Parts: sequence; C-alpha cells; structure tokens
Amino acid sequence: MNIGAVLRESSTLLQAVTDVPRLEAEVLLTHVTGLPRTALLAHPERPLPTDRWAAYEARVRRRAAGYPLPYLIGRVEFYGLEFAVTPDVLIPRPETERLVEMARARRPGVIVDVGTGSGCVAVALAVHLPGAQVYATDLSGPALRVAAANARRHGVEDRVRLIQGDLVGPLTGPIDLVVSNPPYVAEGEWAFLPESVRQHEPRLALDGGADGLAVIRRLLTDVPRLLRPGGVLLVEIGATQREAAAALAHSLLPEARVAVHPDLAGRDRVLEIEFQVEA
Ligand SMILES: C[S@@+](CC[C@H](N)C(=O)[O-])C[C@H]1O[C@@H](n2cnc3c(N)ncnc32)[C@H](O)[C@@H]1O
Repeated sequence: MNIGAVLRESSTLLQAVTDVPRLEAEVLLTHVTGLPRTALLAHPERPLPTDRWAAYEARVRRRAAGYPLPYLIGRVEFYGLEFAVTPDVLIPRPETERLVEMARARRPGVIVDVGTGSGCVAVALAVHLPGAQVYATDLSGPALRVAAANARRHGVEDRVRLIQGDLVGPLTGPIDLVVSNPPYVAEGEWAFLPESVRQHEPRLALDGGADGLAVIRRLLTDVPRLLRPGGVLLVEIGATQREAAAALAHSLLPEARVAVHPDLAGRDRVLEIEFQVEA
C-alpha cells in the first residue's frame, strides 16, 4: 500500500478517538518510518516499506483502542520544549503551562517542584531561569528516571536535583518558590475522567483522595516551614476546586495572601499563596 492510502485508511480508524485523526496518523507514520512529515505529504504515492507496516498498524490499532498518542511516540511538547514520556508519568497538559508562566514571572532563585512526574515544570523553569536551582520531588522512582532523561535532554541536569520522597521530603529552606501540579481528582470525579486517562495514566498522579484535596491539604501544611519570608506557593487545582481550595488555604494559613488565577482557557486553575514578609 502506498503512503497516501495508508494514511487515509488509518485516519478513518482513528476518527473514533480523536478530533484530528489525519494529523495523528501522520505523526504515527513519521514516528515509525523516521521520515519527516513533509516527506510523507510530498510523496503519497511512495509505498510504505514492508518492514514498517506491521509496526505502524500495531500503533494505529492501539491508538484506536484509546491508548494515548504521547505514550505511543514517547514524547510530547510542553511550554515549547519536547519532553520524553512513558506510561510511568502523567502526560503534561497545556493548562499546566500557566503554572510555569506564573512561577517564571517571579524570577525565583531556589525552586521546589513537588510531584515532578516527567519533570516538565522543573525543566521548563530551569531552562528559562538560567540562574535558578531547582529541586524536584516525586514518590515514583520510575517517574524520576523520566524526569532525569528530560533534564539531560535540555542540558539542565546540573541545576535540577531530583529527590525521591513524599512532598517536600527531606528538603530544608529557605526556598523562594514551591510549585506543584499535585494529584487532585476527587473520588466522585473518577468515573467522569476520560477512559484513556483512567486506564492508562498513573493513578498516583491523579488520585486526590475523597475530596480531591488530600495532597493539597498536606502541601499547605508542610510547605510554609520551607519558604523564606515573602516566598510563594503555586499549586494547580481542578477547575471546580476554586472555592474549596481557597477556603482551605485561608483556614490553614490565615496570615498568608491567597488568590486563585485562571488558565489560558479562563478556568480557575492556580492557587497562589504568598507568605508575608516579616515586619
Ligand atoms: C498530576 S502529576 C504532575 C506531574 C508533572 N508535574 C506535570 O505537571 O505534568 C502528580 C505527580 O505527583 C506525584 N506524587 C503523588 N503523590 C506524591 C507525594 N505525596 N509526594 C511526591 N510526589 C507525589 C505523582 O507520582 C505524579 O508524578
């Protein structure tokens, strides 16, 4: 079969799982053949090499069954940078770019990224803040191996220190900024997540306990001791958690300034807690 026919056929199969079936078919074919997308498009009459056909077909079938594209090709773009991903890490989401943007604007010198997963937040900050030292924690050892590969890929491994542990783990301060995209899916929301997320992304990355705020509650308790006066905590929250998260922050940290900011799509997504400068 030639490339044009292969792409047409696979696009039809992928329609059930994506709004951009043709694009995904092209991305998968590029991945399997190693040919640039432009070459595929310029020469649809060329035959697909027979030794690549089985590999391509297998990936199209997995994708058509709901397996996430980034896991199939092993990479995803986040904040203009390419990150390696495996099923051991959450696939970085565009809404998390807002967290990076807000953290970056503060120009912090010492940063902790809690629950780093693929390392996307920690690495993006290290790339864009060349003077910053970043500590990145995660409970998951396999996730930290992916984060290490991403730090090396972007040449920031000397400034991104990876630590396996619970929340801020063994770190001591003073820290300028703690940033986190923690697990925040509530028990009752689990059934409404897309099946591809529920089935294929790590539960440890998503499960926020009964009300979705279990990890955030512990973060709000553990982080203040680390931050320097005037330090900031930025936490991604679920789009429906604005009031509950802000109320929690007010009650646990009555002295701090609390605000919630929208992401680029206008949904409330970032809880910002600023600790007062001591008088
Ligand atoms: C929502 S994912 C975020 C991953 C990445 N920062 C991103 O934005 O794509 C949450 C991450 O927190 C980690 N995690 C969950 N509970 C944790 C805990 N108690 N301490 C440290 N990391 C934790 C998970 O393994 C997962 O990698």
